[in-house]
Amino acid sequence: MRTNDFFDSLWTDFVAMAPTAADIRRRLEERGERVVNDHVAFRTFDLAPINLNALEQQLFALGYRRDAAYMFLDKKLRAYGYVHTRQAAPRIFLSELITGMFSRRFQELVGNLCAEIDPAIASTPAVFWHGLPWSPVDIETYETLAAESEYAAWLAALGLRPNHFTVHVNALEGFASLEELLAFVESEGYALNTSGGRLKGSPESLLEQGSTLADRVPVQFADGERVIPTCYYEFAKRYRAEGGGLYEGFVATSADRIFESTDRELAKAS
Ligand code: NI
Repeated sequence: MRTNDFFDSLWTDFVAMAPTAADIRRRLEERGERVVNDHVAFRTFDLAPINLNALEQQLFALGYRRDAAYMFLDKKLRAYGYVHTRQAAPRIFLSELITGMFSRRFQELVGNLCAEIDPAIASTPAVFWHGLPWSPVDIETYETLAAESEYAAWLAALGLRPNHFTVHVNALEGFASLEELLAFVESEGYALNTSGGRLKGSPESLLEQGSTLADRVPVQFADGERVIPTCYYEFAKRYRAEGGGLYEGFVATSADRIFESTDRELAKAS
């Protein structure tokens, strides 16, 4: 599969979950901007057949390699950043939930979901926009998982798909800073994730980030429909690292707060 086709398929899936992102992108393009994708992020459980090691095989096949490793102890996640080895292509951020750090009941629920998955699922790149690889969970399961991990509840309800796309702020012509872009997004009426401040990171950390709050979309559960936070749009400005090239990595303390863009309480408050 060509890398461009991979990202086109991801974008199509993503904007169905985050119509706001399509709107913001259109507003930027109307101002004459060419929107470049900085990175796409995915979530998974650390259980076969969809654990990080299984999924990343598809990234390697597309020409990506592992860049840096990240650990989020609070949220019980590990992750890798991936960069393309041969062409200018968006970075990829893939995280997995360390299920062994949760309660027995939680592990049982997640284990049951993963036991339903077709083992061949990770044999094609389409795994990254597969959606639900298990039958829809009931609302009680969603709430039980959410009590321990918003990340897990999101994944159980929405399955495998992009969690967010990210605008590469460096490539915008009409915005000198991330702050200017965030002010524009707000002036257009879109709510930002303010957890840890609306602008996360600093030039010293080589990466500044902000994001919208996740859209809220009706999702079909086993026992009825419910509107839940889905996906969001992120904005990233990168600074030059030692050696002159743009910093290619991520900043764990900022990413930790960015994860909260899909929290149910934050989304409600907006
Ligand atoms: Ni991100």
